[in-house]
Amino acid sequence: MATPHIHAPEGAFAETVLMPGDPLRAKHIAETFLTDAVCVNTVRNMFGYTGTYKGKPVSVLGSGMGIPSMSIYATELVKFYGVKNIIRIGSCGGLPLDVKVRDVVIGMGASTDSNVNRNRLAGMDFAAMASFELLEKAVAAARAKNINVKVGNVFTSDLFYNPSETLFDTLEKYGVLAVEMEAAGLYGVAAEYGINALAIFTVSDHIRTGEALSAELRQNSFNEMVEVALGCL
Ligand code: HPA
Repeated sequence: MATPHIHAPEGAFAETVLMPGDPLRAKHIAETFLTDAVCVNTVRNMFGYTGTYKGKPVSVLGSGMGIPSMSIYATELVKFYGVKNIIRIGSCGGLPLDVKVRDVVIGMGASTDSNVNRNRLAGMDFAAMASFELLEKAVAAARAKNINVKVGNVFTSDLFYNPSETLFDTLEKYGVLAVEMEAAGLYGVAAEYGINALAIFTVSDHIRTGEALSAELRQNSFNEMVEVALGCL
């Protein structure tokens, strides 16, 4: 069986799929956290794996960067492989000063400058939201591991290099915790198909201070976030 972007047999993916932006992170998760992981997709080097974690089946597939790429893979996972839970695990830029580099942020909602959800809803605003069920589990998993987690609104931007001089002030005024590039797309797909989605992030850099994690700390924080995501199983 093949979709336009995934060549994997029927049933190749577990009901729950973790989606990092970078396909090499999918490989890292499979090698570090999963048991008996099998590579199920290599099309465009968007590596996907299926294995088990503590005896429970789970898959991991890269999403690529931005709403269009995430939307393609999430839609094909749901429509062709019957996936029921998608958890994005990514990095984000922290916005208010009390969101610190290395913190874990969970996107309860995802605001955006993208039009994808308006396109879905005939021009109306759509409150793109996480699955409450997954959100509760992720918060409980983070607390059990003593991981500092902040839950709230994130901003899914189409522009990584945003030329606006006022956007971040406005977003901060409205309580947005962090900026990233995929969650609002994932939440839109999840709503369209009635599945559960959640987006969990580590703060890899700070928009206000310019502070950025070293490669080593980035990897450690990434692993912490993966544990939170796997705690949802
Ligand atoms: N903007 C958008 N996406 C990001 C950022 C950012 O500052 N940091 C990590 N992902």
